[in-house]
Amino acid sequence: MLDWNGAQMDPFYVTTPIYYVNDKPHIGHAYSTITADLLARFAKILGHPTRFLTGLDEHGQKIERRAQEEGLHPKEFVDRMAEPFRTCWTDLHCETDDFIRTTETRHRQSVVALWQRLMDRGDIYLGEYEGWYSVSLEQFLTEKELLPGNLDPINKKPVERVKEQSYFFRLSKYQEPLLEHYENHPGFVQPESRFNEVKRFVEAGLKDLSISRNTFRWGIPVPEDQSHVMYVWLDALTNYISALGAPRDPSSSLFERFWPSPHNGARAVHIVGKDILRFHAVYWPAFVMSAGITPATRVLAHGWLTVNGEKMSKSAKNFLPPAPIVRRVGADALRYYLVREVALGQDGDFNEQNLIHRYNGDLGNGLGNLLNRMVASIVKKSFDGRIPAPGPRGPEEKQLVTDAKRISEEAKAHLSTPAPHRALESIWEFVVITNRYVDRMEPWKLSKGTTDEQLGRLRTVTYTVLEALRWLSVMLWPILPKKCDELRGQLGLGPIRPVNGLPLWPSVWGGLRPGTLTQPGPALFPRMETTTTNPSSKASHDPMTTAEAKNNAEPKTGSPDAQDSIQFDDFMKVELRVAEVKSAERVPKSDKLLRLQVDVGEAGQRQILAGIGKSYEPEQLVGKRLVVVSNLKPRKMMGLLSEGMVLATGAPESLSVLGTDADKTITPGTRVS
Ligand code: MSP
Repeated sequence: MLDWNGAQMDPFYVTTPIYYVNDKPHIGHAYSTITADLLARFAKILGHPTRFLTGLDEHGQKIERRAQEEGLHPKEFVDRMAEPFRTCWTDLHCETDDFIRTTETRHRQSVVALWQRLMDRGDIYLGEYEGWYSVSLEQFLTEKELLPGNLDPINKKPVERVKEQSYFFRLSKYQEPLLEHYENHPGFVQPESRFNEVKRFVEAGLKDLSISRNTFRWGIPVPEDQSHVMYVWLDALTNYISALGAPRDPSSSLFERFWPSPHNGARAVHIVGKDILRFHAVYWPAFVMSAGITPATRVLAHGWLTVNGEKMSKSAKNFLPPAPIVRRVGADALRYYLVREVALGQDGDFNEQNLIHRYNGDLGNGLGNLLNRMVASIVKKSFDGRIPAPGPRGPEEKQLVTDAKRISEEAKAHLSTPAPHRALESIWEFVVITNRYVDRMEPWKLSKGTTDEQLGRLRTVTYTVLEALRWLSVMLWPILPKKCDELRGQLGLGPIRPVNGLPLWPSVWGGLRPGTLTQPGPALFPRMETTTTNPSSKASHDPMTTAEAKNNAEPKTGSPDAQDSIQFDDFMKVELRVAEVKSAERVPKSDKLLRLQVDVGEAGQRQILAGIGKSYEPEQLVGKRLVVVSNLKPRKMMGLLSEGMVLATGAPESLSVLGTDADKTITPGTRVS
């Protein structure tokens, strides 16, 4: 438990891992950053001065090789790759205070200063490293850690045999100090099961760590021996303090304020994936101990996200960037889904059906509807849009207020643990309680009443629900920041603007001022279509436009699980056939449309435009046998005729065409059923 009940002004510092820029951000990275953002927002709501850091890991052999593949200088390459990360976090409503890149001068100076401190401590010496190195993980691995075939245990990529001169850090010297630190700081690593793994690893004995490489150039040169560059993890881990100005400036005010020391009450929490725990819970504290700096307060290791039950990878074509999901359901709904669905610390799965189910159920029917049924209807019709003054509380209201207080405490405790998925469970109990209260009180009937008593009750009921919504808008703000501000706007309140030293977490009932003018607006979470758009509808000629059409789907009513079923005969009307791609080229001015000439056997040669240009280069498709809809009415796209539709699956940015590559005996024109 992060002790939030300490002094209100205790500073809170939270960080994400700095992401490798060899690829674009995906949903796993998004999960790390969203988790850090929600903790930062929670700390702010409690009144703590808060700082939230993210950034990019831009050195190392992996990046150097990727740049070579692209024919670019590494700096040019990393500059190009940095932007999608920055925009991704803004698009996900993550409010960072700093964005550090390891190629920045401020960072390099700090890494050099740290090296110098370790050197002065006598903790660095020159030796020779011989062993296995995984470029994919940027990690030295022992024989025992390898998978059969000399593959790394995480990405299952081949490792390389390395024999080179190297500087070493005396990690072995820190075995006892680390164990002592773990003993004295029982919450240093969370969850506890992972902490136990870390302890066992250290207890088994620590070997000195190779911290330089001299067979490639893309890194920070070792001071006074430019033939070596520093090990990318020593470089990268330093970001957590270099962004605060240390150790290049030992009296940096940000460092003195936000990095824990015996004098400042500050807490620093590193959010990391379970795969990089060892670096954060063993190497990093050893480095800072050697440099005379206090280790971070906590390393919080989250699990891994799979997509539809599978590990995400480029080759499996299920690499899922957040952007298309954000376009479809909005950033806050994605945040909600990830936080609710994945127990922090455990592995979790991303599944689009579940996402839509939660969106329509929890967010649309639960929260959105509560707001809508009060503000857009009762308050508008019965009170000219103004918040009414409540009368005395009856037993129903007393119970609701008791529930609100209990749940607010529970949710706060869960966020402090932190177990945000549990906090959401508690908060949703309150959403359900409030909706039930509305159902029982039937304000729509009260609004038709004529007696003073009925109108008095209507005022009390309306006020109670609006105040409940106000409480929800604060408790949910760390997870749904924009939607909560929108909700508050509709209640006639300003957005949440945390102030240091001023706790905002709700505890006192009755904060809404009667007479405030509400501002009914659009539905917070308009209903989302669950079924795939009919393939013959006008906007769905190719997979890409099908996805976009779903995006723009009008809100519909009905059960979120309702699926329109069709007769077998209807299905048989759709001619699915194998088609061989004879030639392929990009359609000018379109980044997703490819123009394919295909042979569909007895159904003839024809042209098909397919929206798969973000997932395939034209030449990859030539010779492939794909499954197409061959009896679709021809239509024009970008002035070109398309006579069919290519079937594909996956996220819009990484589609896989359906085909029969494995079996060349299936000739073009063969029907698929
Ligand atoms: N650059 C290092 C971190 C250096 S921190 C000083 C690195 N980068 S990474 O881009 O490969 O991974 C960054 C984070 O993303 C890690 O915490 C990793 O666990 C997380 N994830 C990568 N794929 C993931 C999933 N599929 N699911 C959840 N998180 C995963 O490691």
